[in-house]
Parts: sequence; structure tokens; C-alpha cells
Amino acid sequence: MITLFLAAAIAAAPVQPLKLREDNIPEIVAAMTPEEKVLLLVGGRAKSYNGIGNSAVGVPGSAGTINGIPRLGIPVITLADGPAGLRISALREGEERTYYCTGFPIATLLASTWNPELVTGVGKAMGNEVLEYGVDVLLAPGANIHRNPLCGRNFEYYSEDPLLSGTMAAAFINGVESNGVGTSLKHFALNNQELNRLSNDARVSQRALREIYLKNFEIAVKQAQPWTVMTSYNYINGVHAAENTELLTELLRGEWGFEGAVMTDWGGGYDVPGIIRSGNDMIQPGSDERYELLLAAVKDGTLSQEALDACVTRVLELIVKTPAFKGYKFSEAPDLEAHAKVSKESADEGIILLKNKRHTLPADPAKTVALFGTASYDFIAGGTGSGDVNKAYVVNLLDGLTSAGFKLDTAVTSFYKAYMEDEALRCENINKGKKWYIDAERAIEVVPPQLIADAAESADIAFLTIGRIFGEGKDRSLADSYQLSERERILLNKVSSAFHKKGKKVVVILNVGGLVEMLSWRKKADAIVLCWQPGQEGGHSVASVLSGKVNPSGHLPMTVSRKYYFEPSARNFPQVVADKPFNYSGYRRFKDHKRYDIKDVDYTNYEEGIYVGYRYFCSRWPRAILYPFGYGGSYTKFSFSNMKVSPTDSGWTVTVDVKNKGKVAGKDVVQLYVSAPHKSMDKPSRELKGYAKTPLLEPGEKCTVSMDISRESLFSFDEAHSQWLLEKGRYLFIAASDALHSDCKSSVNILREESLPVKPLFAAEPLFLNCE
Ligand code: BGC
Repeated sequence: MITLFLAAAIAAAPVQPLKLREDNIPEIVAAMTPEEKVLLLVGGRAKSYNGIGNSAVGVPGSAGTINGIPRLGIPVITLADGPAGLRISALREGEERTYYCTGFPIATLLASTWNPELVTGVGKAMGNEVLEYGVDVLLAPGANIHRNPLCGRNFEYYSEDPLLSGTMAAAFINGVESNGVGTSLKHFALNNQELNRLSNDARVSQRALREIYLKNFEIAVKQAQPWTVMTSYNYINGVHAAENTELLTELLRGEWGFEGAVMTDWGGGYDVPGIIRSGNDMIQPGSDERYELLLAAVKDGTLSQEALDACVTRVLELIVKTPAFKGYKFSEAPDLEAHAKVSKESADEGIILLKNKRHTLPADPAKTVALFGTASYDFIAGGTGSGDVNKAYVVNLLDGLTSAGFKLDTAVTSFYKAYMEDEALRCENINKGKKWYIDAERAIEVVPPQLIADAAESADIAFLTIGRIFGEGKDRSLADSYQLSERERILLNKVSSAFHKKGKKVVVILNVGGLVEMLSWRKKADAIVLCWQPGQEGGHSVASVLSGKVNPSGHLPMTVSRKYYFEPSARNFPQVVADKPFNYSGYRRFKDHKRYDIKDVDYTNYEEGIYVGYRYFCSRWPRAILYPFGYGGSYTKFSFSNMKVSPTDSGWTVTVDVKNKGKVAGKDVVQLYVSAPHKSMDKPSRELKGYAKTPLLEPGEKCTVSMDISRESLFSFDEAHSQWLLEKGRYLFIAASDALHSDCKSSVNILREESLPVKPLFAAEPLFLNCE
């Protein structure tokens, strides 16, 4: 009787609609129509989408979405940029309140801290804004290698070295994702120039791929397992990165064990079913055309059900992790004050003291400062494009110095304030309606001769800021960006000679997103402070360093060479065509897969191979170095001693004692380079294999830093046999404070050769077309 009742009750119970849960993904995939599957893979596809930061759905100002499918309980997932802070709209129509996000320092500054814990802290704060503003995945970090100083997006990237880039990216990912939101490690891979970025073919040797351009991504994936990876716009040895099965399925997932989802860069890739077939799960930001193309391929069998379902499954696996899926009630009120502090503290640690002749710095705030350079008054917090952030304010250097108690020469500041107001009006007019990839007009540098002469009498010291801003969609040009402009040169000459005549000093502050030429003018400055683009609190951080409240501890994440043409990639970078019509990224040279052959535009030969940055300069041409990789000055002095190398199961632990031998507290960076035997293979004279930043050491204080060096990191890539190879012989371990010096040495003997075969990637031999 009871059984009968039960059976009747079960039969009568309403059928629960099928909704996505963490444990029913296969069931959901089986229940989805082809249209729904395609909808999930082709993002937001808003017809109104018209550029970066303009998604029509999701959080206003976000970059894109994954479509929701309410029938199956799949919510809309929001994706937003970027590396220096969350990029959403600060102002919303009809609303009085604002949605500002914190402007953190650029990635290059974060790498200059050489402090992964600090970078994790930045990631934590940034990720909290992602969560509290209702975004699910942050489109950062950017981990591409600084191959050439003219790349327009270098500020979004960390370093010329894969270990520093990869560990910084991992530290950032871990911080952001500790909030239960995702990241997107980008741009995978070799997006090292902006010119013709949608179609440029990067032609690279197997060895340079493995040791340099993929190594950074490998480290980040293995150490942090980001929720997503974003493919790059370019081709690699003739195969598009976004349609590249070897890159995405075999290498990223197969060899490295990546467990997350992959998305295209915005509008990246050409062959729509080919993108999905390669294991690139999401086509972002999507369009109606791409939706129709993919649906047609599903229906006519060009794209297999299996490939489609594999991508759908991975996207669903991503969705079930998101705050949107979990129904997180975001506050839209992150603690911006607390995050401003994080921004300030991180900037403090990434500022690099390049020169400090006869203790020019720290400067006594009681002395009067003449503050020159338009950038001092319109400080640059970060770069442009998708790496920009809508922040509430930027502390300029004038404000920073004032609140640090510096006395300022009022004649100079009054002059600049009036000039900057006029310039702001002029620029506003010019900038109206400009497209995102065209540089915004900024105040023109001004040279007021009488003011300089008077200031040299009345003030005690001159501070002069040189500013550079650039970003996505365009590379920098030598004349206007890498070198000082004519006006900057004249200004520096005049300030320098007027102040030096009076026995007074000149400090140059470089508020830049990438390197500028320094050889020709550095003697005119008594001190040079490279503060990069230090985020919204930048003026405070620079003032703290100038006054000595903060002892600088930033170290260069790249080499500063004496001249641009000494760069190993200078012969193969599009500087020469910077003014030709196709000087921005949107130019699709490979449209219809027609191949063109303009060198450095349609294809770029990475002829320098693994000899990127210090690997080249230290091995082949040390005299071409102005400031070596890893270099950074301090107001105190440190000594390294007692280096010990002890074997462990996976490699070695290296310990070094660091002592503060000076009179003020400070932090230092120990860099561990390895010089490997090169019997069967050519190798750089040294390579970075580990690093450690000390805590703040008081005068006389000592600490021991420890670095784990894995055996695996000593292998080099043997192209001829497509294998990782550990040669026998003596490996010299060098502890140093930059790539040119050696403070302590110790060696390790490898008695037995070891090899690890891997599959060659893409075309085994890149075609070096028309290579003069
Ligand atoms: C950029 C990406 C960015 C995306 C979304 C693209 O133009 O290359 O870095 O994440 O836009 O804004």
C-alpha cells in the first residue's frame, strides 16, 4: 500500500528543470542545443560593441561577457581588463555615485620590486575590486617578454627575462584569484610588437620559443594555474596563435597541465571553427557573424561534436567557479582607501635609483625645490588602451612633494600651473572624439629661460620630470618617444647648466612606461630616479624616495643599453616603418589569408634567438650596457657573503647572507645567476635562475636569504634533437646585485648528462624571408 502511494507521489512530482551545478556538467552539455553551445563559446556578441571597454552587457565598461543561458541556470559572466587595475566605467548614466577603481603601478614597476609577495598583495587588492564590482574574470596579467624597448605595450608586461616575468605573473594571479575570481594570462604568445599585431608572423627558433617566449608562460601556468589564458593576435611560425592546436592542446594542456579555459584576444583569429578546433574555448568578444559561422560549422560537421563539447565543458567548468554563478552579492563598494595604500606601498618598492652622484639624494625637504617639466604637474599613473584604469585621481609630483613637506620655488610652480591650465584647454579640444588607439595630446614641454635663470638663484635644487605615455595598438617611435624631444633636451640643458653654475644639483625623474635613451644626457643630471608609471599615488611615492623617507630598492627588470641600435632585436623591429599607413594594430595584412611579405610588418624574424636582453649584452657586448639588468641603487650599501649551495630532492637550495653596511635602513635583491658549461651547445654567459628580496634591514643588520633552484631550470633546449638537455660539467652559481657583477660564487658538478625529448613546435625551422 505504502509503496503504491510513494510511486504515485513520485509520478505526480513536478519535474525539476535541469540547472547547472558543479557536479552535473556532462548532463548540461548533453541537454544543450547546438545553438546554446555556440552561444556559450561566442562571447557577448553585442552588435553595439565598438571598442575596448565597451561591452553592452555585464558591468558597464567591462570588456566582454560569456552569454548566459537562463533555461539551464547559466548566468552572464563578466570579463574586464587589466594589468594595472580593474577597468570599468567610473560614471554611469543617470547615477550620481561613481565606480572608480584603484590605479596600481604598471607591471614593469611591479617587476622592478623583485618582490613576489608584494605583487601577490597587489593582486589581492585588485582582485577584491573585481569581486566587489561584480566582475568574474580579470583580463590580466600580461606576461609577454620585453623583446624590444619600442614595443608599445611593454608597460603592461614585466621583464626581458622569463623567470622574472613568469614568477611575477604567478604571484599576481595567486593574489587576484585568492578572492574567488579569475585571471587571464595573456597574450599567449609572442605578442611582442603592436604594429600589425593582428597579422604579424613572429618567426622564432625552437630554442628561443622554449627557453624565452614560452618559458615565462610555462612558469606562470605551473605555479599558479590561472582560470583562463588569452591567446595573442599574431601568428607564430606561420600558424595563428588563436587557432593553434599544438600551442593550446598539445603544449599548454598536454605538456604543462593547464586545467583552465582559453579565450581569444578581442577579435583575434581568422578561421572561426579552427579557433574552437584548436582548443581555444571562447571567441571574444563575439559577434553575430562569428556566431553564424560557428553554428554553420557545427551543423555541417566541419567542426566535430567532440571538439565543440570539449570547449563547452571547459567553459562550464570555468562558470561554476565564478562569483556570478555562486550568486555572490557584490557591494560595489570596495575599500578604495585601503587599496590606495597598497598602490602607494608597491610603487615605493619598484622605484629605481639609477644614478646618485655624491649623495645628491635624499634631498632635504627644508631646501627649496624648483620643479620643472610638464609631467611633474600632470603625472602619468599608467599607460593607455586596455591597460588604462578609470581611477578617481592621480597624485602628481607637485602634490606629492608638497605633502612630504618640501618647500617649492613658488615662481616656478605658479608659472607651470598657469601654463598647464592653458594647455589642458588646448588638449581637451584636440582630444575630443579621438579614437582609443590614437595618442591623446598632452601639454607641450616648455622652456622658460628667465624663469630657469631666476630659479637657479632662488632655489637650492632642481627636479625635472620627463614623461612618456603610450599603449596598446601602436609601437613607440625612436624620435618622439625613445629619445628626448628637442624641447626636453633644451630644458634639461638649460636647467642643468644654470643650476650647476651655481653649484646646485639637478635630479631627473623618469615617469615613463618604457625605457628612454639616457646616454646622451645622463651627465647633465646628478641623480636619476626611474619611477616608471607608479599608479594613482605616484607623486607620494616619488616624494618619499626623493626625501629619503623610503630608501629605493627597485632593480631593473631589463637592460638599459647605451643606444637603441645596440639592442639585439633592433634590426628586426618595425621602428623604421612607424610612420607608414599601417602603423596601428587594426590593419589586417593577412585578410583572406593572402600572405604579404614586408619585413617587420607582415613577419618579424627573431634572429637574435635566445640572446634577448642581458643574455645578449652580458655574453656578447658588455660595453654596450649603460645600466645592467638587475641594477638598482640605494641610500645604503649591502654586502653578500657566506654563499651555500645544498642539494635537495629537486635541485639545490642556495643561501646568502646579506648585511646592511650603511647608515640607513634598506632592502636589497639577491640575484642568482648560473653560468652553465657549453660543450655541445652555445649558451649565454649567465642566466637568472633565482632571486630573493631581503626584508628591511637596519644599519648593521644581517639576514640570510634562501633560494630554491630546480634541476629542471638548468636544462637548455637542444634544437637539433628537440630535447631539453642538461650537459655534464661545472655549473657556476653566482650571487650578484646585477647581471654584470659577481658578489659570491660557488659551483655544482653535474656528472651525468640528462635529456628530456619533446615534440618540435609549429614549423621546426622558421622561414627567415627577405632577411638582409
Ligand atoms: C587587448 C587585450 C584586452 C582586450 C579586451 C584587446 O585589444 O589586446 O589585452 O584584454 O582587448 O579589452
